[in-house]
Amino acid sequence: MAPEKRFETISGDELYRRLAVGKPVVVLDVRTRTEFEQRHIPGSLLIPLQDLESRCSEVPNSGTPIAVVCEVGMRSKSACTLLSEHGFHPLYNVTGGLKRWTGPLASGLEPDKHCRHGITPSSFLVENYDLLRKGLVLDVAMGEGRNAIYLATRGFDVDGVDVNPKAVAAARAAARRLGAPIRALVGNCEDGTYEIPFSSHDSIIVFNYLHRPLFDGIKNGVVPGGVVIYQTFTKEQTRFGRPKNPDYLLDPAELKSIFADWEILRYREFIGPARSRGEMRAVAGIVARKPA
Ligand SMILES: C[S@@+](CC[C@H](N)C(=O)[O-])C[C@H]1O[C@@H](n2cnc3c(N)ncnc32)[C@H](O)[C@@H]1O
Repeated sequence: MAPEKRFETISGDELYRRLAVGKPVVVLDVRTRTEFEQRHIPGSLLIPLQDLESRCSEVPNSGTPIAVVCEVGMRSKSACTLLSEHGFHPLYNVTGGLKRWTGPLASGLEPDKHCRHGITPSSFLVENYDLLRKGLVLDVAMGEGRNAIYLATRGFDVDGVDVNPKAVAAARAAARRLGAPIRALVGNCEDGTYEIPFSSHDSIIVFNYLHRPLFDGIKNGVVPGGVVIYQTFTKEQTRFGRPKNPDYLLDPAELKSIFADWEILRYREFIGPARSRGEMRAVAGIVARKPA
């Protein structure tokens, strides 16, 4: 690796070798969504260069090396400069970019048909994670772990549970690759196979999942003074696509009434383009603190 000012360079072959032997590396792709959709390094995080300034809080900054890649190595160089100015470290510009990459490639924007976000955390979590009570967090129905991993990189001790063994395996692999330790469990939150232990977690997060009978378990699972962040689709979502089953869709202000006996720190009902894919979506999100 040749030293440069505030970042170093790494060849595609060396990056591939590190990934192949399981060394933790965050691969950040700063090309456009269209380029990424055509081909990308499996497991990489997409933040186009023009969005990087506003979205750099999504990049894990826990000391795990960040390898920045683009098509030929120019945009990634600008991205390294920008990230170094924001205190990210250690940083590597992948020389020659995807043009010279000889390792495996993936295509599409959807890593798994259940979970379409890769390792990009929810923007609602990025904006509000500092309101969580520090300590042990549970991510219910965590999918491939994008939010659990984000919190692990922010110093939380993280449990995650999901019914889909493939998603849990992907979460474990991504967490290992990114050097972000999480405890990822396969468990069904709806049939009693997995029950949230009483007063067990400082905070609980739930994204894009709704099973109304679980609300009590989530509220009881948090310690006094603990915090829940919950965001999922509202009934307006049927105008734009799935889910369509009303069992999986919130009524207007439903989250507010569920947490009416808690302190509501943030609440929003939102219709707008999903940041990750540009499609319209209708969601409601809440940050609520349990009385101490
Ligand atoms: C749309 S994904 C959301 C994943 C993650 N929360 C996120 O936002 O990236 C919904 C997740 O709920 C999980 N799920 C569905 N039913 C479940 C159950 N009964 N118990 C636990 N997880 C479940 C699915 O396997 C899937 O990973």
